[in-house]
Amino acid sequence: MYLNREEEKILQGEYGEAQRLAMKILCALGDFFKAERLIKIESAHISGVSYKTGGDALIEVLERFVKGETKTLVASTLNPSGMDLDRWREMGVTEGFAQKQSEIIKIYKAMGILDLCSCIPYELGNVAKLGDHISFSESSAVTFMNSFFGAYTNRESGLSALASAIVGKTPEYGIHLPENRMPEILVELDAELNNPTDYGLLGYSIGKSFGSKIPLLHKVPSIDLQQAKQLSAAMAASGSVPLFYIRNYEERKFEKEHPEKVIFDQKKLKALREDFAPTSQPDIVMVGCPHTSLSILKKISETLVSPVSNQTKLWIFTSRPIKLMAESMGYTQKIERMGGKIFCDTCPVVCPIPRFDLALTDSIKAAHYLPTMSKIESASLPLEDCLKIAMGGKV
Ligand code: F3S
Repeated sequence: MYLNREEEKILQGEYGEAQRLAMKILCALGDFFKAERLIKIESAHISGVSYKTGGDALIEVLERFVKGETKTLVASTLNPSGMDLDRWREMGVTEGFAQKQSEIIKIYKAMGILDLCSCIPYELGNVAKLGDHISFSESSAVTFMNSFFGAYTNRESGLSALASAIVGKTPEYGIHLPENRMPEILVELDAELNNPTDYGLLGYSIGKSFGSKIPLLHKVPSIDLQQAKQLSAAMAASGSVPLFYIRNYEERKFEKEHPEKVIFDQKKLKALREDFAPTSQPDIVMVGCPHTSLSILKKISETLVSPVSNQTKLWIFTSRPIKLMAESMGYTQKIERMGGKIFCDTCPVVCPIPRFDLALTDSIKAAHYLPTMSKIESASLPLEDCLKIAMGGKV
């Protein structure tokens, strides 16, 4: 990969050890993917925050960066950590884990990274305009930013997004290049999607069938924020789809250019709903993958008309700024009065969740990851049904 004089100097360590290390990572990445040069980025979002997934190795790596007293060059935000930074005891997190997790957050903050600890940075100010190059490493946010903002980001690792944030650049390869952003398959919708969880099922089916191919979704009615979040998250979890389009594309032209076409029909939707449906009573209901929006906290506070049952916990995950807004509107108080808990800074998948037999969630991504990441059986239903069951309704 070509480096200009300034970039060469960074690589030779003239601007300190952290910059050198970051540039070394970007060069290795660029060389591997045969990038021709580095390009400037506008912002970054960094995953790899939880002590559960990173362990002591993460602390060791971060310490090498922070020793150089480096600050990131572009606006940068953090993905969820392994615990609510205030209420970790209520989550069953141990003192030892909490100490390590706090250390990780401290190091990231010292580098100038905003500790939003949320996977929806796009709802919290880390946004982009059409055509902006960015470096994001949370897969659901990558797909969301590419597809709905028209930003350009590859699916970065936590380390490569951090290196980009420090240098302010990323190697130009993959979907930073317009020619690699063309749709590769046409997915025609011939089913009635009734709620965001159904959109998650559509995304899950696409990711599972087509891996990293870029789909163009045809005949999808207008899509709202919650549907878009579930669609992006599921597609990026069962596969590695970094970008999709929703257009009423001129079908015949597309078919000529790209022969692969599939139909997502009512039969497929029904089969997937059955695959994810619970077969026994859950002992925890988890909402907030991706992190819950303010409008959903409002909806939950209105839907919880009776207390959460003694047999079931209700845990809701969101970001600290959204929880603060919900508090000022009285939603948090109502939910917690009814026995639900709202946790910040973490998520259902990256927290060291205590032992439960069956977790029910409205998120297909969370249902997909919980068995492997947390060794908990999972099932998924739309939010309204999850809340009914949390209030004691039978499966
Ligand atoms: Fe976010 Fe955790 Fe889900 S990072 S998308 S809540 S797995």
